[in-house]
Amino acid sequence: AKEPVRVLVTGAAGQIGYALVPMVARGAMLGLNQPVILHMLDIPPATEALNGVKMELVDAAFPLLKGVVATTDVIEACTGVNIAVMVGGFPRKEGMERKDVMSKNVSIYKSQASALEKHAAPNCKVLVVANPANTNALILKEFAPSIPERNITCLTRLDHNRALGQISERLNVHVGDVKNVIIWGNHSSTQYPDVNHASVKTSSGDKPVRELVGNDEWLKGEFITTVQQRGAAIIKARKLSSALSAASSACDHIRDWVLGTPEGSWVSMGVYSDGSYNVPAGLIYSFPITCKNGEWSIVKGLSIDDFSRKKLDLTAQELSEEKSLAYSCLS
Ligand code: NAI
Repeated sequence: AKEPVRVLVTGAAGQIGYALVPMVARGAMLGLNQPVILHMLDIPPATEALNGVKMELVDAAFPLLKGVVATTDVIEACTGVNIAVMVGGFPRKEGMERKDVMSKNVSIYKSQASALEKHAAPNCKVLVVANPANTNALILKEFAPSIPERNITCLTRLDHNRALGQISERLNVHVGDVKNVIIWGNHSSTQYPDVNHASVKTSSGDKPVRELVGNDEWLKGEFITTVQQRGAAIIKARKLSSALSAASSACDHIRDWVLGTPEGSWVSMGVYSDGSYNVPAGLIYSFPITCKNGEWSIVKGLSIDDFSRKKLDLTAQELSEEKSLAYSCLS
C-alpha cells in the first residue's frame, strides 16, 4: 500500500476550505489510489467550526483518508506536510485601506513561511490561494529561503478554467476539448486571459480558438473582462466567494503539478519569474506551464503580439507595485 501524503489546508474552516477538504479526501487532488492525511489549520475564533469540519470528515468515511489533524497551532499544522494549500488569510473588509490588508497578510505569510521551512517535509510543494495570492506567495518565498523557489506557487488555475469555460460556452463545445488558453500575470482584475495559442479538438483535427470564434472584438473585449471579473460576479450572485470552483481548481493545480500535464497541453500557474517573456524576474507571475515528474516549466517561445505585450506589462506593473507595498509593510 502507498504511504499517505500529508496535505495541509490553512483557513480550513472557511468557505474554500469546506469545499476543498472533501475533494482531497476523495482523491480529486492526488488520485484515487493515493491515501492522504489532512492537516487543517485555522485561527482560534474558528476552533469550533474547524472541529465541526473534522466531525464531518469522520462521518463521510472516506476510504482514502488515513487521518485528520485539526489545529490552531501553526507548527503542529505544518509538521511533516508534503503539500501545503494556503487558503487562510485576512480578507479586505469595507473601509479598509489596501495597505492595511497587505500588512495583515504579510505578517501571516511571513510567520507561516518560517513554520513551513522548519517543519514541513523536504521538497514540500506550496500553493497559495489566499489573496493577494501572487504577493502572499512571494512573501512566503522570501521568508522560507531553504524551500526551493520552484516549490512555491500561487493559484491562477481558476482563472484558466474560467477562460476554458467561456470559450466552451461561446462555441458550444465541450470544455474538455478546449485547451491552451493562458492566464498571464496577477490573480486580479489586471490578469490577461490570452487565447492566441488556444485550440479546440474537432472531428477534423485541432482548430485555433480565434478562427472558430471569428470575432476579435469579443475576444479582446467582453471575453477578457468576463474572466477578469468573474470572481466579483460570483460574490454578487452568491453573496459568498467562488468556493466550489476555487477548491476544484486548487485540486487541478496540485494534481497536474504532481502527476504531470497531458502531452501537447499546458496550464496556467503563478510561479517565480525567471525573466521569461520579459516579465521582471523576482515576481510571482502566472505563465503557461507544463509539468512532468513533479516539476513545472514555463512554455517558452510563444509569439506575443502588441496587444498582448501591453497586457503582460500592465499586470507585471501591478505586481511590482504590490511587491513594493508588501515590502513597505515589513519595515
Ligand atoms: P473565508 O473567509 O471563508 O475563509 C478564510 C479562512 O481563513 C477563515 O476560516 C479564517 O478564520 C482563516 N484564517 C484567517 N487568518 C488565518 C491564519 N493566519 N491562519 C490560518 N487560517 C486563517 O474565505 P474564502 O472564501 O474561503 O477565501 C479564502 C481566500 O481565498 C481569500 O483570500 C480569497 O480572496 C481567496 N480566493 C482566491 C482565489 C484564487 O483563485 N486564487 C479564488 C477565490 C478566493
